[in-house]
Formats: sequence, structure tokens, C-alpha cells
Amino acid sequence: MEKNRYIFSSERLGFRSWENEDLEEFAKLNSDEDVMEHFPKTLSNKEVVELIVKLKDHFVENGFTYYAVDILETNEFIGMIGLAAQKYITKFTPAIDIGWRLKRSAWGKGYATEGAKRCLDYGFSELGLNKIVSVTTIKNTKSENVMKKIGMTKKGEFNHPELADYPEYEKHVCYEIVKSEYGS
Ligand SMILES: CC(C)(COP(=O)(O)OP(=O)(O)OC[C@H]1O[C@@H](n2cnc3c(N)ncnc32)[C@H](O)[C@@H]1OP(=O)(O)O)[C@@H](O)C(=O)NCCC(=O)NCCS
Repeated sequence: MEKNRYIFSSERLGFRSWENEDLEEFAKLNSDEDVMEHFPKTLSNKEVVELIVKLKDHFVENGFTYYAVDILETNEFIGMIGLAAQKYITKFTPAIDIGWRLKRSAWGKGYATEGAKRCLDYGFSELGLNKIVSVTTIKNTKSENVMKKIGMTKKGEFNHPELADYPEYEKHVCYEIVKSEYGS
């Protein structure tokens, strides 16, 4: 993939719109039980097709999304990192959140933290956002660690309204960062 197809990049990663060709690799990632450990279930091929449509539509409507992410040096697709508008009802929503989901072989290399920092930067500098939140289940320490490493602050815990049927996954942490704190 050409470097100029990226919307923006970090030192090692390129962030781009979703392509139909991403389906096979993204479906593998979403069917991996390690990757989906902190979600109620893995996703079927059909659900991944629907997810890609949702991510594309979100980009058209908002000008940002959870982007498809490649390693620049090899063009290898490794998953998604990005920003999304969340409307589920809590004390801190509606809000823009930052999220990440990488294939297992791309963990432990600092890609999530590098990519998330770049997305915060893009959100505050290019998109004009003032606040970005992030949420994950209380057991997902790897994800919570990314939040801490990119300078976010824990605001509290809450029951995720979309996971009321899954008590094991319902309890979440919420982190936040505001523009004036970023980079300070
Ligand atoms: C959450 C997730 C993205 C975190 O990935 P990660 O690789 O642990 O996160 P980072 O990018 O911050 O990498 C940190 C690790 O890379 C190591 N690392 C290696 N090279 C590095 C480098 N150049 N720079 C920084 N860290 C580096 C760090 O030491 C650290 O290792 P450790 O976990 O053994 O302490 C990943 O676990 C994932 O995709 N999980 C499944 C999906 C999910 O749960 N998403 C969140 C839902 S809310």
C-alpha cells in the first residue's frame, strides 16, 4: 500500500480508511479468543463485515473512526486504533473515545501506545477535540495500561449499559484526557 494512502502516520504505523481487502485479516483477528478475551464473544465473518461497514460509515459521518492500522515498513495490517463518537447513556457520554484492537502477534511491541498517542495528537490538533475518553472492562489491564501510558487519568468505574446482559464484562473503568493536559 502506498504511503500516501495514509490519513496520518506515526513513526512506525500508518492510519487509513478501511478497504474490502481488510476483511480476511480483520476476521482472523476478531475470531481469536486471546484478542477477544475481554469481550462477551468472538465475532463471526458476517459480524466483521458489519463492523467494517460501521467503521466506514462513522468516518463519512464524523471525519474520523477507529482506523485500519498498518506497519509502515512492511505494509502488514495489524488491527484498529482510533477515535469514535459514543452515545450510550452514562454520566460521561456523549463523548469521543479512543480505542484499540490489535492482532496477537502485534502485542508487546509498543504499537498500541505509539498509535494511541498519535491519535490523541490528531484528535486535539487536527480535529479540534477538547476531551477524549477511553473505557475498558476492569479486568483488561493491558488496555488500561495503554490509557495510563498515553497520559489519561482514571475518572471512575461504571456499568456499561450495552453489556447489561453480560455481568462478567459489565463493570468498566473510564479514563479521560483534556486538550490542556495533553503533552504537558
Ligand atoms: C490492548 C492492547 C492493544 C495492548 O497491546 P500491547 O501490545 O500490550 O500495548 P503496547 O503497545 O502499549 O505495548 C506494551 C508492551 O510492548 C513492550 N514494548 C516492546 N517494544 C516497545 C517499544 N518500542 N515501545 C514501547 N513498548 C514496547 C512493552 O515493554 C510492553 O510490554 P509488556 O506488556 O510485556 O509490559 C492489546 O492487548 C489488544 O489488542 N488486546 C485485545 C483487544 C482489546 O482488549 N482492546 C481493548 C478493548 S477496550
